[in-house]
Amino acid sequence: MRILLLGARGQLGRALFSALCRDYPHWQVTALGRAACDITDPGALIGALNRHQPDVILNGAAYTAVDLAEAKPELAERINHQAVALLAWEASARGALLVHFSTDYVFDGSGSDPWCEADAPSPLNVYGASKLAGEQVIRALCPHHLIVRTSWLYGGEGSYFARTILRRANEGQPLEVVADQWGAPTQVDWLATSVLLALPQVVKAPDKGGLYHLCPAGETSWHGFASALVEESCRLGLLARPVPIKPIPSANWPQAARRPLNSRLDCRRFATVFGIQIPAWEVLMSRWLASQCEGG
Ligand SMILES: NC(=O)c1ccc[n+]([C@@H]2O[C@H](COP(=O)([O-])OP(=O)(O)OC[C@H]3O[C@@H](n4cnc5c(N)ncnc54)[C@H](OP(=O)(O)O)[C@@H]3O)[C@@H](O)[C@H]2O)c1
Repeated sequence: MRILLLGARGQLGRALFSALCRDYPHWQVTALGRAACDITDPGALIGALNRHQPDVILNGAAYTAVDLAEAKPELAERINHQAVALLAWEASARGALLVHFSTDYVFDGSGSDPWCEADAPSPLNVYGASKLAGEQVIRALCPHHLIVRTSWLYGGEGSYFARTILRRANEGQPLEVVADQWGAPTQVDWLATSVLLALPQVVKAPDKGGLYHLCPAGETSWHGFASALVEESCRLGLLARPVPIKPIPSANWPQAARRPLNSRLDCRRFATVFGIQIPAWEVLMSRWLASQCEGG
């Protein structure tokens, strides 16, 4: 199977590449970062598709700067929607499976029930709207697709919430963390591995494709996640002593983009269709922290 991975240098792109190399050495994988293939450049994108003739396109490329997107909506729109439209068109014309990622931020965060795939999206911010437009254009143009909505990614390269919390805790800084946004933190290597398990199934049985939610089981707030990170890091000896973590409402942490309060995702469809067991977020967090102890 020939795989073309785009956005290969992002957090998820790197996790996908590692999992592909580790678990699927018999697949022919080409991984291109933005410098090698800017998806907003039609020449570069079509050139890469012509050169590599993929059976599967994995799109890890996205504009993910949620707050900056409020000031630069056209950039989010170009990368998360317009470029994805061309990708969907080309994938469809070539009969390739398009695997794409989206976000809990397509929902408005009302209520407290986990969101199902059939629930109506209603994004609160520019980033969420651009990601929703990307999903919709794929569904319209490319029937052979797998779109995976996930939430609160951590555990790879780059800067993200869990890393910031651990750095500040190591510096002994007391923390204030939002306690009224609920969801599940998703360890990126687990996400990559789970999606790659589904991939051959969708290739073999295209009717298994479509839109799915995927994050670990259970729920917490950002405050709950920060507290668990600090507690488990102390237990593992990654952190000398705990720091106080004050719960605050979102209103006390102003950000350019509004965030949904309820980001819970119902992932039963993915688990049932692809036959995987979804572990609790705490289990994945502990495993990730333990791997940090080993320098892994
Ligand atoms: N991070 C989260 O918490 C989260 C939550 C839910 C869903 N998601 C979704 O999960 C996916 C992966 O997110 P992530 O955390 O891995 O994001 P990320 O670390 O920001 O990676 C995105 C990658 O896309 C690249 N990129 C941006 N514009 C591009 C372009 N025009 N052409 C080619 N590549 C381009 C970026 O390159 P540069 O670094 O050069 O800009 C970066 O390497 C995205 O679809 C995102 O919407 C993320």
